[in-house]
Amino acid sequence: MADTTEYNVRKIRQQFPMLHQKMHGKPFIYLDSAATAQKPASVIDTMNRFYSEQYATVHRAVYDFASQATDRHHAVRNRVKKFLNAAFPEEIVFTKGTTDGINLVAQSFSKAFIEKGDEILISVMEHHSNIVPWQMVCKERGAVLKFIPISDRGELIFEEFEKLLTEKTKLVSIAHISNSTGTINPVEEIIKRAHARGAKVLIDGAQSAPHFPVDVQKLGVDFYVFSGHKAYGPTGIGVLYGKKSLLEKMPPYQGGGDMIEEVALEGSTYQHPPMRFEAGTPPIAEVMGLGEAIDYIEMIGRDKIAAWEQDLLEYATQKMQGVRGLKIMGTAPHKAAIISFQIKDLHPLDMGTLLDLRGIAVRTGHLCAQPTLKHFGVGQIARASFALYNTREEIDLFVEALEEVSLLLRPTLSY
Ligand SMILES: Cc1ncc(COP(=O)(O)O)c(C=O)c1O
Repeated sequence: MADTTEYNVRKIRQQFPMLHQKMHGKPFIYLDSAATAQKPASVIDTMNRFYSEQYATVHRAVYDFASQATDRHHAVRNRVKKFLNAAFPEEIVFTKGTTDGINLVAQSFSKAFIEKGDEILISVMEHHSNIVPWQMVCKERGAVLKFIPISDRGELIFEEFEKLLTEKTKLVSIAHISNSTGTINPVEEIIKRAHARGAKVLIDGAQSAPHFPVDVQKLGVDFYVFSGHKAYGPTGIGVLYGKKSLLEKMPPYQGGGDMIEEVALEGSTYQHPPMRFEAGTPPIAEVMGLGEAIDYIEMIGRDKIAAWEQDLLEYATQKMQGVRGLKIMGTAPHKAAIISFQIKDLHPLDMGTLLDLRGIAVRTGHLCAQPTLKHFGVGQIARASFALYNTREEIDLFVEALEEVSLLLRPTLSY
């Protein structure tokens, strides 16, 4: 078990106003951080302060508030660079989120590097946002989309990956952590093998950036994307890390203000990255909020967060396995704090509704991972996911509620 002796979860919880709300008159137990994380007061305050005391546009004006906002905006790019250990701030592109980052790469990288007959390799365990953009691109460019199969524990089948990787493969795009099974993929090995074949790699870091240290230089990854809102920051902001040498060869994704060098009626020239990829007035307050969220994560420490969440995962897995008829989808030995589960003969939506009445928030449905659920022969499922502010006591109450709900929905349940 991980050492969590110095972790002060009580103090952490005090910093999250939403965790002190009631839902249906019951203390709010939030087990849906894989969908979106709650926000610490420091993030909310930073955005409030920006709107009420500092608000102005960025990049476009010489007056004092605008130049201060521009400086703060640049400072956040540097904070993200440090957070991911990128080599240059120009490698950090602000996006709307993970989905937007993947779409940006899909559209722009494919225009520069994908030709008819080329192959893009993803896996069966991807979130829809790491499937659909590639289906669209392959259709547009006559490329072929291939899928790495997964095992019954929810792991990538590595031998199949190696077989699928050929000289035609131009890009491998893989989740660092699956949002449905919680599997942590061996991305270092994937990147090494893909590079040896001349393919570039995008890592979907939506579920990893908020939870453990990520070093893009050490990984050697070409693109890495994540969302601000899953990392205790605001919605509407995300990050695309891209190697400078690659971003410089990629055309803009969208046209508009801020991304140009010069515009004439006959045609326009574009700025260098990252500005080339940031058309229009950016989400300024959201960038400030993201900077504060990153500071918050760094203040606690990603190693400590990872250890705490690992403890919650082990504790919850053990307790949930004691609930009659409960089956966990995704049992890889290397997992993050995400547990998707079913209870025999209970519909996940009924279960979710009864948990809600007890103040407990879990995700129910297809988890934006229909191919993964199909692999497990499931249409809908429930998911509990944990973050730096969850506690073992919350897990106890959650498991008690699961037992109660099972009996209520199936009073004659016998196994
Ligand atoms: C693994 C993974 N990829 C991508 C996404 C999409 O993120 P967003 O909706 O913030 O763009 C999610 C969100 O659940 C995710 O878990």
